[in-house]
Amino acid sequence: MQQTHLDQLATEIIEQNICPDLAAQATQLVMGSGNPNANILFIGEAPGKKEDEQGVPFIGAAGKFLDTMLAAAGMNRDDVYITNIVKYRPPNNRDPKPAEKAAFLPFLLKQIDIIQPKVIITLGRHSMEYFLPDQKIGHIHGQPRQIKLGGKDYTIIPLFHPAAALYNGSLRQTLLDDFVSVTESIN
Ligand code: URA
Repeated sequence: MQQTHLDQLATEIIEQNICPDLAAQATQLVMGSGNPNANILFIGEAPGKKEDEQGVPFIGAAGKFLDTMLAAAGMNRDDVYITNIVKYRPPNNRDPKPAEKAAFLPFLLKQIDIIQPKVIITLGRHSMEYFLPDQKIGHIHGQPRQIKLGGKDYTIIPLFHPAAALYNGSLRQTLLDDFVSVTESIN
């Protein structure tokens, strides 16, 4: 059922011609993947090259580390749902523009409403800022925050972006520790 609603949402994005410049340069829309009934929803920033080619989020180097995080908590991709704020690859992997993030916001909120996760895990500063403006990720990573979205209560847990951990051993360990303790708190 949820998957049908997610498919309808993808069709709406295409029919409403959201971010036509991004769409024109992208191979395809990268809506999300995983289990639409999951307790955990990961939200990254935008698809990169591999994600654009294959239509699946987080399958490049950062995605491999995300798999390592899941394995450390005894989970895999079928236990979670993974998406991004912006659903087309920005050219040359540039940061999404504020207008592009704003254009995708209503669809992200609908996506959250369809999945109804117990916790939303934001990956990186950009995704965190969407839900927790004026916070610093270095201060609040791994700490749950309660917010209201469309009248419903959600728990947001900001984590560092897995790409940031690739070449930084201490950040890598922090991210693993944060994620394992997050999963212990919700299961
Ligand atoms: N980085 C992101 O934020 N999202 C992806 O899907 C891949 C890399």
